[in-house]
Amino acid sequence: MAAEIIDGKGIAQQIRRKIEGEVRSLRERGVIPGLAVVFVGENPASASYVRGKERACAEVGIETETLRFADTISEGDLIEEIRRLNQDPSFHGILVQLPLPGHIDSGSVAEAVACEKDVDGLHPVNVGKLCLGQPTFVPGTPRGICELLAHVGVDPEGKHAVIAGRSNIVGRPLAILLSRKARGANATVTVCHSRTADLPSHTRQADILVAAMGQPEKIVGSMIKPDAVVIDVGVNRVADSSKKRGYRLVGDVHFESAREVASYITPVPGGVGPMTIAMLLRNTVDAAAGRIGRSMSEAGIHGPEAESCS
Ligand code: GUN
Repeated sequence: MAAEIIDGKGIAQQIRRKIEGEVRSLRERGVIPGLAVVFVGENPASASYVRGKERACAEVGIETETLRFADTISEGDLIEEIRRLNQDPSFHGILVQLPLPGHIDSGSVAEAVACEKDVDGLHPVNVGKLCLGQPTFVPGTPRGICELLAHVGVDPEGKHAVIAGRSNIVGRPLAILLSRKARGANATVTVCHSRTADLPSHTRQADILVAAMGQPEKIVGSMIKPDAVVIDVGVNRVADSSKKRGYRLVGDVHFESAREVASYITPVPGGVGPMTIAMLLRNTVDAAAGRIGRSMSEAGIHGPEAESCS
């Protein structure tokens, strides 16, 4: 039987409605949640993500300002701009859209963002807290994946989660989250990457398979264990002359063949992407409310010990 499609868009909408209510009560108390988005260069995919974030913030009542810089800006000047935002009380959250141009070290930029405004969860202190299981900002995509699993009733406990991709923004933090000793976690985790020998031998062992390596349709049905839960983080533009815009979006998973084998699967678009944005809103509202990492799981299944994931 074909896999059930996980409706990330619909689940994200439910979460956004809840966040909208929280923003309303914050505003009634005189707190207007604010997010600064820093966008360097003109990468079309990044521009489209930034527009999506601006729209989502506006819908729930979060004020946003996008600061745009030419891709010639120096690392020092960019860090100066971020320090200015750190001091600006109208912004509770700061997000630096990635990727940055090659001459700018994204680690130095992440370190420049004030920890308490780091809604992307990339500051070394926040990464350390995540590793230690302390309340902190969890990066949007891994947190969104935990929420998706919870919403469809998939408990990672005792399961083998295989993550293809070791990025600082998805693969690594997700491995930490899923392997925590906590409700909604307790998985056995394998992280695969570009140098992994015989990738299919690993992916075929996955009860939960997360594809986050940025390679269009790399994971095909024959690489998936029957009834696995497949989470596709990839958003790849592939040329398609039949489309008005000249391309179509595909994930890192070959959807049609994977769907025949999996029990649940996320679509692209409409799966993980909307959840990433919803979690950014969640982190921004938590920053504005002064309860970093303390809000319970949106799905309500995580216990207090799991707060750093929820
Ligand atoms: N680029 C692609 N996804 C993301 C994200 O979640 N955060 C940031 N800052 N940049 C991204």
